[in-house]
Amino acid sequence: MPKVTKAVIPAAGLGTRFLPATKAVPKEMLPVVDKPAIQLVVEEAVASGLDDVLMITGRNKRPLEDHFDRNFELETTLEAKGDTTKLGLVTASNDLADVHYVRQGDAKGLGHAVLCAEQHVGDNPFAVMLGDDLIDERDHLLQQMIAVHEATGQSVIALMEVPREQTNMYGCAGVSELPASVRSGLEDGLDVFQVTELVEKPDPEVAPSNLAIIGRYVLTPQVFGVLHETQPGRGGEIQLTDALAALIDMDKGAGGGVVGVVFRGRRYDTGDKLDYLKTLVKLASERDDLGGAFNAWLKEFVVSL
Ligand code: UTP
Repeated sequence: MPKVTKAVIPAAGLGTRFLPATKAVPKEMLPVVDKPAIQLVVEEAVASGLDDVLMITGRNKRPLEDHFDRNFELETTLEAKGDTTKLGLVTASNDLADVHYVRQGDAKGLGHAVLCAEQHVGDNPFAVMLGDDLIDERDHLLQQMIAVHEATGQSVIALMEVPREQTNMYGCAGVSELPASVRSGLEDGLDVFQVTELVEKPDPEVAPSNLAIIGRYVLTPQVFGVLHETQPGRGGEIQLTDALAALIDMDKGAGGGVVGVVFRGRRYDTGDKLDYLKTLVKLASERDDLGGAFNAWLKEFVVSL
């Protein structure tokens, strides 16, 4: 079976929930303490063994390309000053991965963004990582998902339990137990299910479960054929969830079938204002260089509320 070697990062969305900050700056460039969110996503790809990264970008997304390129002015100035620490911070993102770009002309939805990767990915399984969805570096979700793909040959989605009343904010999955023959090939302790149904943003009364799809996928290339046929769905957008729903019914021996890995680790959504603020506070409070002073202030601040 071909190995997963490429990560696709859709980052062409309009980021309307974060306006006006995202009028000229992509939401994936918003700082998570002091690193843009997108750098953390690329670092996760590399840590998962994927150093060929294709970013799906659009208009107003040039800062993304600049961030993974050299900045001669900063480099020469810091070199002249002998400030190797800051120089290291500037150059770290240049050589992190082999980053490619393709533009999605119009933001027609996540499914359409993934379809833009077809030529680069070719006939191989690949990872999709949403550029505003962060998984803590201490958790190894994507590596586990790649292993589940290699053991099952099926597409793999990441699922997270959410409160019932929030199902209308996510794609939701109906699941059943994995057949014993499939389960036996998997690492112990992983919560993996056969996905039987996928619905984009269902109302709580009709949601198949409270298992929500989060921003990590390992997909078979058969998804491209399905996406070509997928009509605009909810919100008039070509939904990746709708294409995955069609993969469920395809022959498992021919790249069809979807399994879900339930993630119970640390995830940070930086595309939503409230979650973004929580992310900054959590991650800043754990930093060796900032945590002490920040937490002392935070405790006083909370008492004063
Ligand atoms: P979101 O729905 O969170 O992104 O898409 P958005 O549309 O930018 O956000 P809001 O709702 O207007 O604030 C999830 C991911 O898919 C990408 C986004 O960049 C984000 O990383 N995406 C979405 C695309 O690349 N293209 C699209 O057409 C839509």
